[in-house]
Amino acid sequence: MYYPDELIEEVRLRNDIVDVVSQYVKLERKGRRYFGLCPFHNEKTPSFSVEPAKQFFYCFGCNKGGSVIQFVMNIEHLDFLEALKHLADRAGITLPEPDDQGEREKANKRKELLELNKEAARFFFSCLAGKEGREAQGYLKRRGLTEKTIRQFGLGLSPSGWSELSHHFLNKGVPAELLLTSGLSIKSKNGELIDRFHGRIMFPIFDIRGNIIGFGGRVMDQSQPKYMNSPDSPVYNKSRELYGLNYARQSSSKKLLIVEGYMDVISLHQAGIDYAVASLGTALTQMQAWILKKYADEVIIAYDTDSAGQAATLRGLDILEEAGCQVRVLMIPQGKDPDEYIRNNGPEKFKNLVDRAISLLDYKIRVQKGMNNLDTVEDKLKLLNSVADILANHDNSIERELYAKSYAEQYGISLESLQSEINKRMRKNQANQRKPNKSPERRGTQSSFSLPQVEQRYGELEYMLLVMLCLENRLYSKVLKAYDLTQFTDPGARRVAEKLYDKLENNKSCMLAELLSEVEPGVASYLVHISETKCELEDVEKALTQLLNKLELLKLEEIQKQTIERIKNEQDGVRRQELGLEFSRRAERIAELRKMT
Ligand code: CTP
Ligand code: MN
Repeated sequence: MYYPDELIEEVRLRNDIVDVVSQYVKLERKGRRYFGLCPFHNEKTPSFSVEPAKQFFYCFGCNKGGSVIQFVMNIEHLDFLEALKHLADRAGITLPEPDDQGEREKANKRKELLELNKEAARFFFSCLAGKEGREAQGYLKRRGLTEKTIRQFGLGLSPSGWSELSHHFLNKGVPAELLLTSGLSIKSKNGELIDRFHGRIMFPIFDIRGNIIGFGGRVMDQSQPKYMNSPDSPVYNKSRELYGLNYARQSSSKKLLIVEGYMDVISLHQAGIDYAVASLGTALTQMQAWILKKYADEVIIAYDTDSAGQAATLRGLDILEEAGCQVRVLMIPQGKDPDEYIRNNGPEKFKNLVDRAISLLDYKIRVQKGMNNLDTVEDKLKLLNSVADILANHDNSIERELYAKSYAEQYGISLESLQSEINKRMRKNQANQRKPNKSPERRGTQSSFSLPQVEQRYGELEYMLLVMLCLENRLYSKVLKAYDLTQFTDPGARRVAEKLYDKLENNKSCMLAELLSEVEPGVASYLVHISETKCELEDVEKALTQLLNKLELLKLEEIQKQTIERIKNEQDGVRRQELGLEFSRRAERIAELRKMT
């Protein structure tokens, strides 16, 4: 492949699969999925589905599936690079000619920018440590930050003069153009370079690998604007970065906590809540949501709960849910932000709030309640109607019932009447969505459609191994130890394993859609099957051990068969005895494994 994975990923992230498919297929929403008539085979009832959360398509009729890239390959009859180009154009991304000089130059430029940012962070840091930094140090101390935290987050101070940083770097031979591109310098009216940041506390913004890609700068007094930030640059794209993720991804917690600001993240990490990230004041974007999904099982959102914050929270929640995240909402009393709350109440109290974070459904209902005074009958009716709306759109029937019950009790109406309101709405919703010919909501323990070329036992076991690994990336080290790439027998499984192992080796986690973008259509379909296979195992680890045992058993049995043949044909008596010994040793292990599986 000519292009780096990140670029392919970028193209994929910027082309929402629902938008792209909609240009060819009339889609209708049903639950979490969209359905339409499959463009790849003839059918009268829709079995072609698009899953926005996972960003793939799949046809229950013809088993074609893949990411947005494979969709374009199939529908436009393009090869991979052509499809990539097509989608890049669509998203306004200029793809370099493969291997051309421009591409190399761009890569160099990025490197130079990252290098400059690193140097700039050092510059700010030494400014904070120096004489000029006394006031700033006092400020940070007053805000409760320790020396260690300041170092960990690389905080600094921008000098108060007009162009100290610009001069410093120009004198060192850094080209003016690079300083401008980085956003550290701006051009004054008379064409000279001046600094963007003056007398501000500097927060380096890290990407996931820990490169410094930009800066935020906060004033130390009440002046405006409170924060200034680096502009987007070839290394910094606001809409996809999450402040603190470079640390939070290493947390042992499987959740991520989203907060609004730099200071919140820093305070939380200092307090031992090392899974906090910030969307930096902007509304959460879909790209950020996909990235969050990649690193966490559960996302807890802790935005301001004032009414402005509430709207942002609701929007953020929908985006997160769309992306397939498990979401909860943390409510901080008295409209404080996490940083203030921790300073006043300590980390333990904050952890309690995390434990008590409420479900999405609960939050939506509370917001409705907050908007009504509930003084009049009319108000109550309005509330109950909104509750019915919310519940009718909620997938989980148990929760639906529990909430209906609790609301009926709370407002002194019969459960039957509330339930009938909900049912009415659900029927209406359903009528709006034509039914596909097969129910997509197969949530059984195994998918029931035929698997591609995996009739053999190896195929099946290896397939399940990959299913588990996709589901629980953390199992990777165990899997690698017991079953490396050379052991795969099924060619399809091996192709997928090669990709998956490679990702997990470098990345620690792997999103299906990301993999999908990089494989040929046949392998893509195999992968989609994998993700469609729900494995609802109580103890995945135990299941994995069993699976690995089965695979070992299978291998050993095969070797035993060969050994028998060899013993039969062996002329040399000593050698025959050796083989016999090996045979019985293996037989012991086989007996052991049989007992375990
Ligand atoms: N922000 C910004 N520009 C502003 C104000 C805010 O970019 N003029 C972003 C910053 O990333 C900031 C976040 O929005 O961290 C949240 O804003 P706010 O809650 O006002 O700031 P805090 O992070 O709480 O900062 P502090 O506690 O120092 O006031
Ligand atoms: Mn704050």
